[in-house]
Amino acid sequence: MTTNLLVLGIESSCDETGVALVEARGPGVPRLCAHALHSQIEMHQAYGGVVPELASRDHIRRVLPLTQKVLDESGRALTEVDVVAYTRGPGLAGALLVGAGVACALGAALGKPVLGVHHLEGHLLSPFLSLDPPQFPFVALLVSGGHTQLMRVDGVGRYELLGESIDDAAGEAFDKSAKLMGLGYPGGPALSRLAEQGHAAAFKLPRPLLHSGNLDFSFAGLKTAVMVQAKKLGDQLEARKADLAASTEAAIVEVLVKKSLAALKQTGLRRLVVAGGVGANRSLRLQLNAACAAVGVRVHYPELHLCTDNGAMIALAAAMRLQAGQQTASEVYAFDVKPRWPLDSLSRNS
Ligand code: KG4
Ligand code: ZN
Repeated sequence: MTTNLLVLGIESSCDETGVALVEARGPGVPRLCAHALHSQIEMHQAYGGVVPELASRDHIRRVLPLTQKVLDESGRALTEVDVVAYTRGPGLAGALLVGAGVACALGAALGKPVLGVHHLEGHLLSPFLSLDPPQFPFVALLVSGGHTQLMRVDGVGRYELLGESIDDAAGEAFDKSAKLMGLGYPGGPALSRLAEQGHAAAFKLPRPLLHSGNLDFSFAGLKTAVMVQAKKLGDQLEARKADLAASTEAAIVEVLVKKSLAALKQTGLRRLVVAGGVGANRSLRLQLNAACAAVGVRVHYPELHLCTDNGAMIALAAAMRLQAGQQTASEVYAFDVKPRWPLDSLSRNS
């Protein structure tokens, strides 16, 4: 593909409405023209977690104003858009349907093709929008709210699952531990902030599957250990919260770092890409950087503001798929969503 492509991307899989315009000029790394985001965190906070029906309704309210904002900021007209991309899955069914429906309606109105994108592929490719984009092949550590996976990535759509969480994801471990400590939702950033004032060695918490000999993860037991520790502390929990937060973060980070290094060793690859919301964690970044530098491995992250859900990664993934030769069926506006959708199944289908 050598032509220029302007891709509008819409993300609505969970509690963030994201819209972005990405431009691909020939085969070069696509460029972000503008992106806009509305986080529903405040709305869901009262309930301690995401309420799916409220999420869907809010996506409906936000998506078109955000689209207009992105067009205004980039100085582009809707009619200039060549392809409309949306998150097809995984995620909340109702929330996904909003993005899919709006994308198809826009595509039909403009007479332009639409492309459904895998949310995790968006996360995984998001470091390509950074100032220091990676090159294939690499090992990817995908750490989002719902997924913890290690992947071998040989190119766009060429994903081999090396290991994943057999129960809770790392993001869930952060969120659930934070909830136990009364830190609200989403707990990851709050727990991480509190951890900076505590001692990581204060409590001995398990490092699940650290020596399992494979690349799988398990974080459910860690959450239970945090709960037991919190109960034991009783009245003293408040005073020791920062220490418990630091110990919890240290346990999660150690497992993620060691398993990532094991994946690099197993594949023989010299490049690591970290993506997904937990990739914003400061301690994880510091420790991964140090561990990888020690063995001569380059680590790539998305820009901090593109770690969590956003429309830019969806537009980017679509643009990179089109650059890699993916065809879009024009004037086919029947859509479906895939609330459950394994990322490595893309390698089998595409
Ligand atoms: O990728 P993401 O935005 O959404 C999903 O696709 O799930 O990830 C959200 C997850 C939540 O579990 C959130 O607590 C976690 O990322 N998170 C963090 C940090 N920022 C976001 N966890 C630890 N430290 C952070 N700084
Ligand atoms: Zn995500």
